[in-house]
Amino acid sequence: MSEFKRTLVTTALPYANGPVHIGHLAGVYVPADIYVRYLRARGEDVLMIGGSDEHGVPITIKAQKEGVSPQVIVDRYHSIIKKSFEDFGISFDVYSRTSSKLHHELASEFFRKLYDDGKFIERSSMQFYDEKAGQFLADRYIIGTCPHCGSDRAYGDQCEACGTSLNATDLINPVSAITGNKPELRETKHWYLPLDRYESWLREWILDGHKEWKSNVYGQCKSWLDSGLQPRAVTRDLDWGVPVPIEGAEGKVLYVWFDAPIGYISATKELTPDWEKYWKDKSTRMIHFIGKDNIVFHCIIFPSMLKAEGSYILPDNVPANEFLNLEGDKISTSRNWAVWLHEYLEDFKDKQDVLRYVLTANAPETKDNDFTWKDFQARNNNELVAIYGNFVNRAIVLTHKYFDGIVPVRGELTEYDVQVLEEIPAIIKKVEDNLEYFHFREALKECMNLARLGNKYLADTEPWKLIKTDVERVKTILNISLQIAANLSSLTEPFMPFSAEKLRRFLNIAPIAWDEMGGNVLQAGHKISEAGLLFDKIEDDEINKQIDKLQATKKANELNNIKVADAKSDINFEEFQKLDIRAGKIIAAEKVAKTKKLLKLTIDTGIDKRTVVSGIAEYYTPEDVVGKQVSIVVNLAPKELKGIMSQGMILMAEDSDGKLVFVVPEKAVKAGSEIR
Ligand code: 2FM
Ligand code: ZN
Repeated sequence: MSEFKRTLVTTALPYANGPVHIGHLAGVYVPADIYVRYLRARGEDVLMIGGSDEHGVPITIKAQKEGVSPQVIVDRYHSIIKKSFEDFGISFDVYSRTSSKLHHELASEFFRKLYDDGKFIERSSMQFYDEKAGQFLADRYIIGTCPHCGSDRAYGDQCEACGTSLNATDLINPVSAITGNKPELRETKHWYLPLDRYESWLREWILDGHKEWKSNVYGQCKSWLDSGLQPRAVTRDLDWGVPVPIEGAEGKVLYVWFDAPIGYISATKELTPDWEKYWKDKSTRMIHFIGKDNIVFHCIIFPSMLKAEGSYILPDNVPANEFLNLEGDKISTSRNWAVWLHEYLEDFKDKQDVLRYVLTANAPETKDNDFTWKDFQARNNNELVAIYGNFVNRAIVLTHKYFDGIVPVRGELTEYDVQVLEEIPAIIKKVEDNLEYFHFREALKECMNLARLGNKYLADTEPWKLIKTDVERVKTILNISLQIAANLSSLTEPFMPFSAEKLRRFLNIAPIAWDEMGGNVLQAGHKISEAGLLFDKIEDDEINKQIDKLQATKKANELNNIKVADAKSDINFEEFQKLDIRAGKIIAAEKVAKTKKLLKLTIDTGIDKRTVVSGIAEYYTPEDVVGKQVSIVVNLAPKELKGIMSQGMILMAEDSDGKLVFVVPEKAVKAGSEIR
């Protein structure tokens, strides 16, 4: 660390199209916050940069669905996200947003410099264009049949049914998700960053120069580099984003992954006129905190952009985390499978640190990890309450009981006392070493070891028994216990800042600088305050409530999945109005010869009597259905089935056993009544 004068910590900018959840906190923001708080406590020059990523297609899709402008969407979620971070004590020096004017200007300048320096290549390609909507279609806006699994809901970039990555041109029968129109291929020009030109430099910089990076990060970089880099388009045909600052590029914006990381720079510039010191001086150490899905962007693409620009520093480390799952399932915004931070706080008011603790103790540092409510409860009750809280409470309560809340003078030390006192700086050192290497779980474990040490010391020395016979000895024991408690208040501050502050209040002390921790941090004679509880037990019913909530989500998803799986692309109202659906009555029925599934029905539609062939013979005999009321589409073009002309379609629904049942009006209505 010594060669560096300052540290710039960036945290992945979350997309402003939804609130933030525990996965965000565990993967990026809590570790980054711990790190930054630690460096600040050491008196280092450090900035923590964050903000909302407010561009990209998903935001425009959400806006379109709600019939509002993308700005409305990002305004809404930017505020929610920002507040959640504040509530959880994520101590950004600046939390900005990429729709800001300053960001647009800076991203635009950055692009323009690369353009002027000839760092891009221009390429034309054929892309889908929706004539009716008058726009090129982003891959997500194209829906069609997957060439691999046949799902008719595949997107132009991926089939979610089989998981295959696709090119929009791979889709069979592509349609525009905006208008339902068949899009046509049109030529469009884009600017590409020729990553292939940076490949050998990247190999040297990462593979030779950063062998110390976490193995998951290094491994991903190696595999990208080994499979060869291709030029990447850095512009898109879209009307939401930073406009491409070149003549003839109207209707095009910078690709969201081009402008978002520049957001780190613009946020710094928003924060301080000294921003260039943090971005351009080689004695600044830059660390990107991200999740594993962002590795390629932060280790390969953004560094190539910075290198191309020429005046910026590169990241020194990118300690990306793996993913956090929730109760065994992948966290998903669209399936509402998440613990949303704002909702957590409604149910667990003032328990930010419990979540920070659990997410760190169980951080997905080296592999994906699972968050479960039972583990959350157990860690709170068995670790925070039973070890940390219990220890400081006993030390403080006993000091009040025996010495009126005055830190007693220490007498002669036993060998055991010396051992315990020596253990304090040793533990602090272990916390530091782990933090330097981004091993937050281990660092937290060591903090808890200090609380364990205190607990064991009290249990071994039993001051509550000794008080009757050896007050002097009890003075020493409580003095040492209070030193441990005071050290804990500083050592745990980066991890659990709210409880650290509470503990300082109990002890009536100001924050202790990191480098002053270790030995005697509380003077004899100092008056401590009244004790309270540092942590409260969490009862089963609170946890069961959370588990029930997730169960309900699961059920709702199961129901929705049926709908989602079968949902067809949108039609407009005019198209819907073309359907003529009537109430009708079955007046005769017979099986269609040589088929298992078909019944030939004679329907009184109120307009006429007509024949309809319906695939319901597996569920109904002809006798079952005669006399039944039905809903019938009467203006469907006639179709011949097994030699019989079928004139219409009976509406049926599938029940939970997969059996077809009639869709009928709630009460009997006259044949011919319109259904709309
Ligand atoms: O994956 C994401 O959520 C992105 N919005 C992260 C962007 S990080 C940075 F480059 F801004
Ligand atoms: Zn598929």
